[in-house]
Amino acid sequence: MSNRIYIFDTTLRDGEQVPGCQLTTDEKVQVAVQLELLGVDVIEAGFPVSSPGDFRSVVEISKAVTNPTVCALSRAVVGDIDAAGAALKHAKRGRIHTGIGASDIHIRNKFGSTRDAILEQAVRAVKHARGYVDDVEFYAEDAGRADLDFLCRLTEAVISAGATVVNIPDTTGYCLPGQYGDKIKYIYNNVPNVDKATISIHCHNDLGLATANSLAGIMGGARQIECTINGIGERAGNTSLEEVVMAMKVHKELGFETGIDTTRLYPVSQLVSGLMRMPVQANKAIVGRNAFAHSSGIHQDGHLKHTENYEIMNPLDVGVDKSLIILTARSGRHALRHRLELLGYRYDKPTLDTIYTRFLDMADVRKEVNDKDLMELVR
Ligand code: KIV
Ligand code: ZN
Repeated sequence: MSNRIYIFDTTLRDGEQVPGCQLTTDEKVQVAVQLELLGVDVIEAGFPVSSPGDFRSVVEISKAVTNPTVCALSRAVVGDIDAAGAALKHAKRGRIHTGIGASDIHIRNKFGSTRDAILEQAVRAVKHARGYVDDVEFYAEDAGRADLDFLCRLTEAVISAGATVVNIPDTTGYCLPGQYGDKIKYIYNNVPNVDKATISIHCHNDLGLATANSLAGIMGGARQIECTINGIGERAGNTSLEEVVMAMKVHKELGFETGIDTTRLYPVSQLVSGLMRMPVQANKAIVGRNAFAHSSGIHQDGHLKHTENYEIMNPLDVGVDKSLIILTARSGRHALRHRLELLGYRYDKPTLDTIYTRFLDMADVRKEVNDKDLMELVR
């Protein structure tokens, strides 16, 4: 089995469903172009049947990008699939992503249906979608809570019907990493025709486990991860693209590879956050303002002695210029001396001790001491 992991970005579909994060078609094209440069394999561009604007966005994104596959979402109903097929007309490589609820909770409460009827509808949907494109992904919604043997039966049936990718979403973010990884492994070991398709994972973050579950999923055999920039998405969001990609890069021993140019992660994160008016939390892994900022005296001293002491990745690798030393009342002399030297000031030890005492008084009041404050202090 190849260790190439395909990155399926759904920022413009699952991510854009977030209240307040809606984008215009032009903005979506702008993001799609950057996602192409980032090196994602698939861009889920929208849900064409949902609105004329979403339909238009899938059309325009299909025209604007060349390398990534452009994917359009549909439910397992003819009208949705027809809209997706029409919207993808200009795509160099188009994929229809169709599917239906697979857990008994969804089958009973959403569809008032039965497992057998759902399976038949799934097969019909995949066959209908294959009339438009050669690449059809099937999603078994709420697979995280679905009966495993039914999930295997469904997976086998949709692959036989022509699905090239089968998505096993943890729609409600319910699974623990071990459970989710085992689920994927079970599917690999029990679906006879599984080699004819790629198994995809799509994790939501309701328990803060989306990244961990996605990694467990690829260890279980999945080869496509569905994720979003900054982890945006329904409720607590989706798997964060930057987190899974960097986890694979930092842990080279896992042997996984992606096509992502990681130096573009921070700029793309900023672009999406700005256009969607969705701030990135300061302590967000990889792209948050504090992801490479050191503020306590012990950490600053260690970082200044060797960056490896407190950093597991080089900020340049994710497109962040440099690590930051934030001067606060928790900072020590080493960090203060380092910043003063950068500003062109060198002092003997007794003078530095005096400045440090005054610095602490200032930091207690101002919380963060910036370069202007420091100049004032030394003057
Ligand atoms: O979370 C989910 O199950 C989805 C599907 C539509 C793929 O977003
Ligand atoms: Zn989702």
